[in-house]
Amino acid sequence: MNYQVIIPAAGSGKRMGAGYNKLLMNLAGRPIILHTLDVFEKDSSCSRIILVIHSDDDSFFAEIQSHYTKIHIVYGGSERQYSVYNGLKAAETEGIILVHDGARPFIRPETISHLVQSASECGAAIAAVPVKDTIKKVIDFEVIETVDRSSLWQVQTPQAFRFSVLQSAHEQAQKEQFLGTDEASLVEKNGHVVKIVESDYDNIKLTTPEDLYFAEAIINKRNQKYGL
Ligand code: CTP
Ligand code: MG
Repeated sequence: MNYQVIIPAAGSGKRMGAGYNKLLMNLAGRPIILHTLDVFEKDSSCSRIILVIHSDDDSFFAEIQSHYTKIHIVYGGSERQYSVYNGLKAAETEGIILVHDGARPFIRPETISHLVQSASECGAAIAAVPVKDTIKKVIDFEVIETVDRSSLWQVQTPQAFRFSVLQSAHEQAQKEQFLGTDEASLVEKNGHVVKIVESDYDNIKLTTPEDLYFAEAIINKRNQKYGL
């Protein structure tokens, strides 16, 4: 089943501390964002990539656009949610739409197809992995409670939706001036069920400098495994 994807890439990468958009940093010889874009460019079920960028990165993205066939560029906003909303306005208004962080280059094609399938059945499906650590609720450095881990999942992207589900959730959030940390939280708030698709622990978001070491390790592991 075909789908389109919005890739927010308009952040400033403050926590990475490079002094410029982290997605332009090199990972195994290529900018991080190209690793992410390649996954969707190669997926024959992906009909359109809506890449959301900051105007500061115009010239970089203008150059790379000519190497891809599916990319449609739009400008982002001051918050990730606004960037995704701008992307949504440039999308085809039907079918399945995914939102995937530019900063997650290790998403597996199998996870994408499971998400598309699940969203087509239920309207909303998100990638996640079970929480591995013991999690405690803490106030002022004092433990209040040990949370039951069996019901905790660490949420990632992609998050997949029927177009109308994502659009109405975003419009409602806009009206209420609600800012969520992911798309699913807007959809949940709108009263829609959201399904989990189990992803894997490689699908990290490159956020702080040490994530780059983990990223190199994942690339080395994959190269060995697949002999690439
Ligand atoms: N993003 C975006 N528009 C924003 C903020 C973030 O498109 N206004 C994108 C980022 O480029 C990234 C994804 O959303 O691909 C996830 O955000 P995050 O990892 O937080 O990236 P940054 O916002 O760039 O990093 P930081 O929060 O450390 O500044
Ligand atoms: Mg951010």
